[in-house]
Amino acid sequence: MLSIVYSSVATTEFTDADLAVLLMNSRSNNKRLGLTGLLLYRDGYFLQLIEGPLDVVRERMAIIQADPRHGQVETQLEEILPERRFPEWTMAYRPVTDTMADEIPGYRTAFDDISGNGSARGGTSLALSQLIGWFAENPPASGGAS
Ligand SMILES: Cc1cc2nc3c(=O)[nH]c(=O)nc-3n(C[C@H](O)[C@H](O)[C@H](O)COP(=O)(O)O)c2cc1C
Repeated sequence: MLSIVYSSVATTEFTDADLAVLLMNSRSNNKRLGLTGLLLYRDGYFLQLIEGPLDVVRERMAIIQADPRHGQVETQLEEILPERRFPEWTMAYRPVTDTMADEIPGYRTAFDDISGNGSARGGTSLALSQLIGWFAENPPASGGAS
């Protein structure tokens, strides 16, 4: 299994309706392709974890990378795993409020590092592993499983 975490910057403002369309399409594709993961969106920044068979992940990542709805797609973490972290989630999504950003370990650090606001980027991997661990233990209301 290949697991990739990337960050990107939305090129247009994403409304709830835009996100709903993106999620619906992504979930049906991911289900068909055997991909799982999670998507976070906050203040114009995306952070997505996508996992599955190596070739399938690489192929879909190339498509996602070329999507004009976002840019500055940067891989933050790439791992080969013996098994999936999020087997139940065709693409979990949960809107994150400022309060939650304070409460979820690694959340603020990950996004601050990614947005490159002058803070050192060295903390990103630790922040991401904390963030991933938190999500694994706190399933969202809708993970896209069906
Ligand atoms: C932030 C972001 C995350 C995305 N995540 C996925 C995804 O997990 N799976 C997927 O199939 N498409 C995802 N997409 C959409 C793809 O870029 C592309 O539009 C889609 O895969 C094309 O599918 P289609 O040929 O069925 O329309 C994402 C797009 C964006 C902007």
